[in-house]
Amino acid sequence: MVTSNNNLKLIGPFKQLLGMDNIPLRGAITDTDLNPIADAGIVTENDTIVATGNFEVLYQKYRSAGIEVESIQGNRVAMPGFIDAHTHICFAGNRVSDYAMRNAGNTYLEIAAAGGGIWSTVNECRNATQQELATLTAARANKMLHEGITTIEVKSGYGLSVIEELKMLLAINDAQNNTPATLIPTCLAAHMLPRDFGGSKTEYLNEISAKLLPVLKEKSLCNRVDAFVEQSAFTPREITPYLLHAQESGFAVTIHADQFTTSGSELAIRLNAVSADHLEASTEKEIVALAKSPVIPVVLPGASMGLGMHYAPARKILDAGSSLVIASDFNPGSAPMGLLLLQACVMGAAQKLTNAEVFAAITSRAAHALQLPDKGQLSAGKKADIIAFDTSDYREITWHQGSMLPQLIWKNAVKINLI
Ligand code: NIG
Ligand code: FE
Repeated sequence: MVTSNNNLKLIGPFKQLLGMDNIPLRGAITDTDLNPIADAGIVTENDTIVATGNFEVLYQKYRSAGIEVESIQGNRVAMPGFIDAHTHICFAGNRVSDYAMRNAGNTYLEIAAAGGGIWSTVNECRNATQQELATLTAARANKMLHEGITTIEVKSGYGLSVIEELKMLLAINDAQNNTPATLIPTCLAAHMLPRDFGGSKTEYLNEISAKLLPVLKEKSLCNRVDAFVEQSAFTPREITPYLLHAQESGFAVTIHADQFTTSGSELAIRLNAVSADHLEASTEKEIVALAKSPVIPVVLPGASMGLGMHYAPARKILDAGSSLVIASDFNPGSAPMGLLLLQACVMGAAQKLTNAEVFAAITSRAAHALQLPDKGQLSAGKKADIIAFDTSDYREITWHQGSMLPQLIWKNAVKINLI
């Protein structure tokens, strides 16, 4: 018997509940590991899950406490809200010219010479106000929320000066006031050397270190710092002092690594970064090294789709014993689609990932990559971020390759109106 509590709610019954708890954080997993709860209920108190289990059993246990029942009609499969651990959704303008030119066979350099590339989005963002950027970011976050994504990492990186990067991070924080999705801001001031800086890469990074990072800490605008490690952006040697300084200042570090050439994942391991993201160019050597380290591999099939490139070696990464997170990389240049579930399902077919590996990559393992211990699972103590699909068999979700969206979504136990 449970004593009276007016904030208790029992949601269900769900035909199947995939809690994604008791799923290992690393290595290959099979669908047997999912072990769904049949005819399940979820007990919540305020924004948190108190218990999961058989609906009838939970009802009998909690009814004396006057529990409110939020009753679910029809056959539904419930699972944790999806987590997109790598996006650039704070941007203005578009890159339709880049996309058309690239598909017409033009090279990266030709596109940049025609005024495209990251720098064109920097110009668009500098011309936008903080308010405009916040509105655009919240609108994209709300669209993603309707696709079942309840937590979204959002990078800066299109400001590329102390003042403009600060504007982007303020805009991302402002956007949080206009979306129920949780936004996790990340500073990507080290996206490339701004063309108008008038100094070396080291001088630019020193300026960001000295003048931007302390303000971000002081104003609590973000806890994470990212860098694009690539010949065209920053080499390991150039970026190392900056990232060490960020870590000493209390930021978690993540790296855009091995997208076109290797060296980024090796740096991520050396610096004990939280994650190494991209990995399309990673070879056996990088895969083995990552598996011996705590660094979490994050793969971005949306960038492969946008650029017409091969996928990162997700199957090999899992078989070597690493974790695997799949994120959308939603950005105007290389990954304008932004449909996380679709991308995870399509990569799953190409890379031979089990349903368990696909779902873990966008729930429990993604929460780990963002260091969010209270998200990504449906079990006691976790936040009640829940999505439910109109099916009685979870395998139908990946079979639809992302065209089946959740019909019911709760954020912190509050039902989102999906009209
Ligand atoms: O993650 N690789 C670098 N940065 C982004 C692309 C940004 C852009 O092209 O605007 C990425 O793919
Ligand atoms: Fe990215």
